[in-house]
Amino acid sequence: MTKIAIIGGTGLTRLDDFKLDEQNTVTTRWGDPSAPLSFGQLAGYPVVFLPRHGNSHHLPPHKINYRANIQALKDTGIQSIIAVAAVGAIDPELGAADIVIPDQIIDYTWGRSSTFYEDSMTPVTHIDFSWPYSQQLRQRLIQTASDNMIPIVEQGVYGCTQGPRLETAAEIIRMERDGCTLVGMTGMPEAALARELEMDYACCAVIANAAAGKSSDQISMEDIEETLRIGMKNVYRLLNFFVADFSD
Ligand code: HPA
Repeated sequence: MTKIAIIGGTGLTRLDDFKLDEQNTVTTRWGDPSAPLSFGQLAGYPVVFLPRHGNSHHLPPHKINYRANIQALKDTGIQSIIAVAAVGAIDPELGAADIVIPDQIIDYTWGRSSTFYEDSMTPVTHIDFSWPYSQQLRQRLIQTASDNMIPIVEQGVYGCTQGPRLETAAEIIRMERDGCTLVGMTGMPEAALARELEMDYACCAVIANAAAGKSSDQISMEDIEETLRIGMKNVYRLLNFFVADFSD
């Protein structure tokens, strides 16, 4: 049975070398996931792929049904999720197209359905979220990158903003003071929901741009897309090696 899923973000709405076996349109008690689940093989190993923003990249971060996405993967028997995400760099040491495996999150989102534990039938539940990503999965990603000489940054604090607009320069200064090194819009509640369902979840973040105020250039979608085209090449390589290591 397939045990690992890849959630693709901006710049990764499809996996180039993925051999599709079947697409399953599934639904959950929370509604429909962003797209049908794609069952297939990466590097010859079974993987489920789900594009977070939908097949045609039409869902903005605050409109994604994160609960349906995570529940659909859980119902399929998935135990481990690698979430690929485009982010802005707050830490000036980070460069365009760098890959970061974050180890912490600060959540600035609001108004998103962010828990499975909120209807009257479920007891109040507080998950331990001290370390929001699976340390085991992170270490495996880091080891795979090192074994195959794929440069990555082994730690990062992912600040998750509401979007869809980009941040102001002052917001980024505040986030930097808080300790964020990266900024993205989709890391939460995805990571917390995976933890609630006791799934292993790690993030592979790709630097698409310098965060607001961190560069004299205006941030443009064209530049972001161009940078991601480069950055995602290394992500594909990492994922290919990773699924092979993971399945052995
Ligand atoms: N801010 C928030 N999300 C992002 C950014 C950014 O600068 N770049 C890519 N995703």
